[in-house]
Amino acid sequence: MNNNQYVVGIVGATGAVGQELVRLMHERNFPISRLRLFASARSAGKVVEFQGRKLVIEEAKPGVFADVDVAFFAAGGSVTRALAADAVKAGCLVIDKSSALRQDPKVPLVIPEINPEQLRHHGGIIANPNCSTAVMLMGLWPLHQLFGVKRIFVSTYQSVSGTGAEAVRELDDQIHALVEGKPVPRKVYPYQIAFNCIPQVDTFGPDGYTGEESKMAQESRKIMGLPNLKVSATCVRVPVVRAHSVAVSAEFERPVNLEQARAAIAAFPGAVLVDDPAQSKYPTPLDFAEKVKCGVGRLRIDTALDNGLAFWVSGDNLWKGAALNAVQNAELMAREGLLRPKAAAAAV
Ligand SMILES: NC(=O)c1ccc[n+]([C@@H]2O[C@H](COP(=O)([O-])OP(=O)(O)OC[C@H]3O[C@@H](n4cnc5c(N)ncnc54)[C@H](OP(=O)(O)O)[C@@H]3O)[C@@H](O)[C@H]2O)c1
Repeated sequence: MNNNQYVVGIVGATGAVGQELVRLMHERNFPISRLRLFASARSAGKVVEFQGRKLVIEEAKPGVFADVDVAFFAAGGSVTRALAADAVKAGCLVIDKSSALRQDPKVPLVIPEINPEQLRHHGGIIANPNCSTAVMLMGLWPLHQLFGVKRIFVSTYQSVSGTGAEAVRELDDQIHALVEGKPVPRKVYPYQIAFNCIPQVDTFGPDGYTGEESKMAQESRKIMGLPNLKVSATCVRVPVVRAHSVAVSAEFERPVNLEQARAAIAAFPGAVLVDDPAQSKYPTPLDFAEKVKCGVGRLRIDTALDNGLAFWVSGDNLWKGAALNAVQNAELMAREGLLRPKAAAAAV
């Protein structure tokens, strides 16, 4: 990394993803000259600790990005739509976590282990994938490079933190209410999530698939550069606090080989191979919460598909599925000289 230091903004700093962004900025030593934290007017004035200093949350509104070099947006699609253009106009790079611009052909959608070259072709905004897509691709991409993927059937097991901070509180409140024999509070999900599974993540489209299921198809195609990839996904919310899991059955162009598949996963920078059936060794969400890499295991020949492999991935939706991928994109851009502080540019 060069010696540049950046004025960093985090929009949505009080949320589930925003809090992880603040934490990762610190833990990964992102070169910050000043950190500015933004949220809604409701949170303006609240105080957050960062590296022993107290930072005051500011209201995110037009005009606040004048001195910001890079702004991470983690406040939902409507905030991105309302404020990202203003940030870009102020010369700020926007690294967006929302789904608002992921399918915009002018906006690259980047996982640095898969399509880092796309970071060179942007108009001020870099999009980051949906959490279940990012986790799944940590298993699928290295297998695709070996065998050439044609179509996938996917089922997800998604944690409540994927919905945001309020859903984490809802699971906690419901478990306490059930244990104490009290009425079960319910606000975020259409059904009780404690001790249950809900086969709905996002709203339903006219084709019967939910928004999350459609995102898994569209985003996988864009990131892997495979516009004709066939994807059928069923996304399910489960009473897990953190880390999503995905069961994948994939059909490939070429004959598959289990040993080569395992070696490719083990060599891939975004994954850890945890695959020893005789010892009941495979990834679980508890083991892969707060981990940089995603766990891949349960690799086997898929008996229902030609050239098919079945596998399981667990990975942290708040990290690889959100905050970490965004920070990794910014780190790579800084390393490659694609991110320059405004102060340095002005001095030239
Ligand atoms: N959770 C995940 O695993 C995950 C994964 C991938 C992508 N994402 C995406 O990341 C974004 C944030 O998700 P989250 O799970 O962190 O949600 P969250 O916990 O509900 O947090 C939402 C954040 O947005 C802020 N916000 C809401 N309205 C705002 C406004 N009008 N102006 C400025 N800030 C506003 C909130 O501030 P207040 O506290 O002031 O309300 C809060 O900081 C979403 O776009 C989501 O789709 C999330």
